[in-house]
Amino acid sequence: MIINEANVRKVIPVAGGKGGVGKSVITANLGILLSSYAKQTVAIDLDLGGSNLHTYLGMKNRNAGIGNFLSDRSVKFNDLITDTPYRYLRFVPGDVLVAGLGSIQQSQRNSIVSRIEKIDADYILMDLGSGTGLNVIDFFLISNSGFVVTTPQTPAILNAYSFLKNVAFRQLQRSCTSPKSVVSYLKEVVRDKSPGGTPTIREILRKIRSISAPAGKTAKEAVAALKPQLVINMAETPEDIQMGENLRDLITRNLEINIGCLGVVYYDSGVNQAVRELKPFVVHAHDSIAAVELDRIAQKIIHSPRFPDMPIDTDEYAGSFELAEVEAQNDYAEIEGAPEAAAGAEDGELDVSHEEYAAIIAAQRQEIENLKGTVRMLTMNQR
Ligand SMILES: Nc1ncnc2c1ncn2[C@@H]1O[C@H](COP(=O)(O)OP(=O)(O)OP(=O)(O)O)[C@@H](O)[C@H]1O
Ligand SMILES: [Mg+2]
Repeated sequence: MIINEANVRKVIPVAGGKGGVGKSVITANLGILLSSYAKQTVAIDLDLGGSNLHTYLGMKNRNAGIGNFLSDRSVKFNDLITDTPYRYLRFVPGDVLVAGLGSIQQSQRNSIVSRIEKIDADYILMDLGSGTGLNVIDFFLISNSGFVVTTPQTPAILNAYSFLKNVAFRQLQRSCTSPKSVVSYLKEVVRDKSPGGTPTIREILRKIRSISAPAGKTAKEAVAALKPQLVINMAETPEDIQMGENLRDLITRNLEINIGCLGVVYYDSGVNQAVRELKPFVVHAHDSIAAVELDRIAQKIIHSPRFPDMPIDTDEYAGSFELAEVEAQNDYAEIEGAPEAAAGAEDGELDVSHEEYAAIIAAQRQEIENLKGTVRMLTMNQR
């Protein structure tokens, strides 16, 4: 696994669990933005069985891609890397030209991963499919800090949680290869389908530690190395970040993963319009709020040589989620054309009555409770 903060080249898989949350549109447009700062960028379509990254880049699907590499030994991986209309952006197509490659074998995944690790570029973005299958998880674990894209709706949030739980468990399986008693415990966790049989990652870590102290240390470090970055897409109001914060709290509590937030991208008709016209929205609707927000994310990445570790003024913001919250509030004021309202709110002059305020807080509490309840049900259903 590449530890991005210690690496000059940043490898960024883009996943999310749920389908249709905007993984591909974000991968394509972020690739264009990073390249617009003269950064050598490669975007790879790894959504095997559902490749469509080329359309979001506004390109025709003519070149050989990952599908040809997997089905024809004479095809060399480096020959798949093609130029795009954007000077510093290159592209590796998926499997549109070769049908039926939805699920591939471990050896094939390993072969792709080792080629990607050798690509010479500043940024390597990988568009992954939805779901929590090994195809997605193993590609996500190529680096420690992939993106998790979600919308603020509960089903997407829960899919993101479930995805990261699977990622953490896979990471444990890969790192805890001794002693045998730990390996068999992890196998037992997978087999156990009884009610109450699915422990949290926190509980698994505790159990490993009780079986073997050194394995416990390895396991804790392996999970702590994970630093996924959340992108909340298609938000409608600044309050939507609350769902991201709920997710962060769940993840910290149950998975012991330290997740960051890169920002919020609002639902924007400019994105849909650009997609309909087969053009990238950061070009076609470059002054839309979504384009401005994605550009801010690109700049956060570029200005963080130790990405995903970002230089945040901790006197001003408790962390990346709080920074994203302020950004989302400011952006919202711009959409509404009422920047004064946001400035007032920032000074603590909330323009709501006490009753309204109490109702908002109560609704938020209820939302957290609902989320907790649904997660409980979800984990039970998975057994
Ligand atoms: N910020 C946004 N504002 C408006 N529409 C958006 C936004 N982000 C994504 N969309 C729309 O959502 C749709 C789905 O996006 P996309 O194909 O990128 O999702 P995905 O997560 O890659 O889906 P899949 O899991 O099927 O690969 C697209 O039609 C796109 O126009
Ligand atoms: Mg997609």
